[in-house]
Amino acid sequence: MREPDHDTAQGAPPGPSVGWARDWVERWDRQQEEALPDREDRFTALIDAVEEGTGRQEPLVLDVGCGPGSLAVRLLDRLPRATVIGIDADPVALALGRAAYPALAGLRFIDLDLREPGWSRRLDLARHADAAVSTTALHWLPEPHLRAMYAELATVLRPGGLLLNGDHFAVDAKEAPTLARLHLALRQREDRRRFPQGHPESWRAWWEAAAADPLLARYVAERNRRDVEAGHHGTGSGLLATHVEALRAAGFAEIGTLWQRGDNHLLCAVLPGGPAGPERGPDGVSHSRASSKTATVSHKIT
Ligand SMILES: C[S@@+](CC[C@H](N)C(=O)[O-])C[C@H]1O[C@@H](n2cnc3c(N)ncnc32)[C@H](O)[C@@H]1O
Repeated sequence: MREPDHDTAQGAPPGPSVGWARDWVERWDRQQEEALPDREDRFTALIDAVEEGTGRQEPLVLDVGCGPGSLAVRLLDRLPRATVIGIDADPVALALGRAAYPALAGLRFIDLDLREPGWSRRLDLARHADAAVSTTALHWLPEPHLRAMYAELATVLRPGGLLLNGDHFAVDAKEAPTLARLHLALRQREDRRRFPQGHPESWRAWWEAAAADPLLARYVAERNRRDVEAGHHGTGSGLLATHVEALRAAGFAEIGTLWQRGDNHLLCAVLPGGPAGPERGPDGVSHSRASSKTATVSHKIT
């Protein structure tokens, strides 16, 4: 079992500069847009939902499958008093995120495999989280792991806490072949409109370049040892219905799409038991409530 690592500086490659790491993260962002031309729009909508839905300027947010922290840094840019815990199992992504943002207050990365039962205990949370967010990541989890992950997530979110999952949710091409074809065609048109010159790098080319950087060699070797990509395709977790059903079973109440473009969705699920709006103290600052359902979170830190 890997040790929890909450220190933003730990795990960073020895020697490389912040600029080096940010260049890699910038390249990551560009390659992610290859299949996701409206990635930035979805980030914006998701962060709007965190701000409106938690009602707090200092929310505690879990970014599950965070990669090198693209969403986390955008969230902290908008909500500088937030705390974002980025969770990922990829040593390359984590090393780059840690090296790129060593001094960003409120950002922590932790090396965790969301398929391992009990992963949430290793977060060592100070309090229940206000929201869990994720982008282009949860389709990597096979359905049984996805269901277990949502169930465990529900135990560390506060009553009324949010799950916000931005991802492509495909329609079943056997059941709706025309819709499936049109989703793809519209995405390709959008891509050509936004990026008429095309994209500088694909996912595969990015990873080939990363593998050739000596400063990343030990992280790439560890990534290969863990076989991180094993779950990337064909998990069966790409269908919206799979997520809705898994979230319902995990105890989430309201579940629906907040933002959508084609098959690119921002799925939102809300745990029951929260106040209708943010609970506000006499100082006007919002506070979350405790519940027996979420009592598994440790209260070591306040
Ligand atoms: C396509 S990347 C997206 C990263 C980031 N959310 C973004 O939007 O740039 C998917 C991420 O999910 C992570 N991931 C997949 N399965 C995981 C698991 N079982 N545990 C933790 N992270 C996982 C991968 O390592 C990868 O960094």
